[in-house]
Amino acid sequence: MSRLAYTAFVAFVSSLLTLLVVWALMPTPGTDAPPTDDTPLRQITLEELAEHDSRESCWKAIEGRVYDVTDYIPEHPTSERVILRWCGRESTEAWNDKGGGRPHSPSARAELEQYLIGELDDEDS
Ligand code: HEM
Repeated sequence: MSRLAYTAFVAFVSSLLTLLVVWALMPTPGTDAPPTDDTPLRQITLEELAEHDSRESCWKAIEGRVYDVTDYIPEHPTSERVILRWCGRESTEAWNDKGGGRPHSPSARAELEQYLIGELDDEDS
């Protein structure tokens, strides 16, 4: 092997090794603080909930959890009136009975979970 080819080969192998070392030392994204379901939710009192009783800011408590559904109001498949009257209130009953005892569907529940902001203060629930 010529001297030039040998030098080029050594340079090539060294750069590969350097890349390998850099890659091995790089922190793996997301491993520092993995999100857990144990993260405590913000405690919200019935008093604070009641302040969000309008189209501009509509919070609902459902089964002990509090949801800010303001952005969902225009998406709800009924007239706004149906959903607006529950803003700022404990709404579990309304959630579980759309009419005639029919609860919301599992996909509605999945939709709801996107709006989770906290849980009802222990003293209130
Ligand atoms: C708490 C007050 C609420 C009341 C009284 C209420 C009531 C209703 C009613 C009357 C319907 C149409 C009836 C039917 O499906 O046959 C409906 C459908 C629906 N609502 Fe609500 N709703 C409320 C809150 C919400 C919230 C907060 C969400 C989601 C963030 C939501 C999501 C949906 C969806 C996706 C449907 C379509 C049917 C289904 O998937 O169950 N609703 N709701």
